[in-house]
Amino acid sequence: MIAVTCTAPVNIAVIKYWGKRDEKLILPINSSLSGTLNQNDMKTTTTVVASPDFDRDRIWLNGREEDIQSERIQRVLDEIRKRAGDRKEASKEKLSTYKVHIVTVNNFPTAAGLASSASGYCCLVYTLAQVFQVSGDISTIARVGSGSACRSIYGGWVAWDMGNEIDGSDSRARQVADEHHWKEMRVLVLVVNDKKKETSSTAGMQNSVETSKLIQERVKIVPGRMAQMEKSIADRDYETFGQLTMRDSDDFHAVCADTQPPIFYMNETSKRVVDIVKRYNRTCGKTSAAYTFDAGPNPVIYLLEEHVSPLLSILTHFFPSDEKNYVRNVPDVENVLKRELPKGFEDIEKRV
Ligand code: PMV
Repeated sequence: MIAVTCTAPVNIAVIKYWGKRDEKLILPINSSLSGTLNQNDMKTTTTVVASPDFDRDRIWLNGREEDIQSERIQRVLDEIRKRAGDRKEASKEKLSTYKVHIVTVNNFPTAAGLASSASGYCCLVYTLAQVFQVSGDISTIARVGSGSACRSIYGGWVAWDMGNEIDGSDSRARQVADEHHWKEMRVLVLVVNDKKKETSSTAGMQNSVETSKLIQERVKIVPGRMAQMEKSIADRDYETFGQLTMRDSDDFHAVCADTQPPIFYMNETSKRVVDIVKRYNRTCGKTSAAYTFDAGPNPVIYLLEEHVSPLLSILTHFFPSDEKNYVRNVPDVENVLKRELPKGFEDIEKRV
């Protein structure tokens, strides 16, 4: 029997992946780029036990047994078993016949537009790769589980190059800069709704490809935006980085609204956060915080460390909560809650 446990963090795209050119191989119509969160924040933990004594594969997600026959899980298992024993030729045949029991848990809401499929499939593939001794690039295997999962294979800033090959061999993740490169960067994840989303990203992006005219314009814009984004990260140029991040999120949600039937992932609270971030940037006289929204209403804000405390104090003013410990991983949380509201926010209604 072999047992391995691994963890994998979430990644949040600043250039979004939206739309496939090949549904089966999960080949995107545009390249994308994301930041991978710290290992200790939002993450998936997966244990894989492989044994010649198990009679079938099984999987449990957050304590409930799920259907292992799901097409995506099967694709991942097939790919892993094909490459089993890469590291040790002798064990190849025996290993690939072992059945697996998989136990996986997320420490944050699943399927709520918080990139749980990214950390989930990345962790599944990485753990299986350890058990089955698979070597080489495994981002292409993570990709066939869930596209965005391929980017969580690396830390720091990661591009997923769309590639040209029909078999998808060049559609893989590439680290643009490691986790030490931009030390001052922080990410605020604001959970405004942790319910499962109504339109899955799979269904949503398929409808967009079939019905949206705007998506055709977006695919023309993304290559240039990817180049600018990579440069802004290399130069630690926050102004350009922040503007591109917000622009790409806005464009992605415009494509969703242009889809038939229209998809609205953002809600009223999301729009209020957009307004607060825009006002914050006006108050600072430069881009100091950048929002981005995935396929859900929860804002994610990329900002430099010096802006965490002032922006959080404004956000907690407008969205107060009785729940203790709702601001997590912020060292000076007492100061955050005590700060005064700056000018420029007087006319926003406080939500209680
Ligand atoms: O990997 P999927 O199928 O969950 O798609 C993710 C799509 C977005 O989160 C909206 C964008 C992205 O690039 O992560």
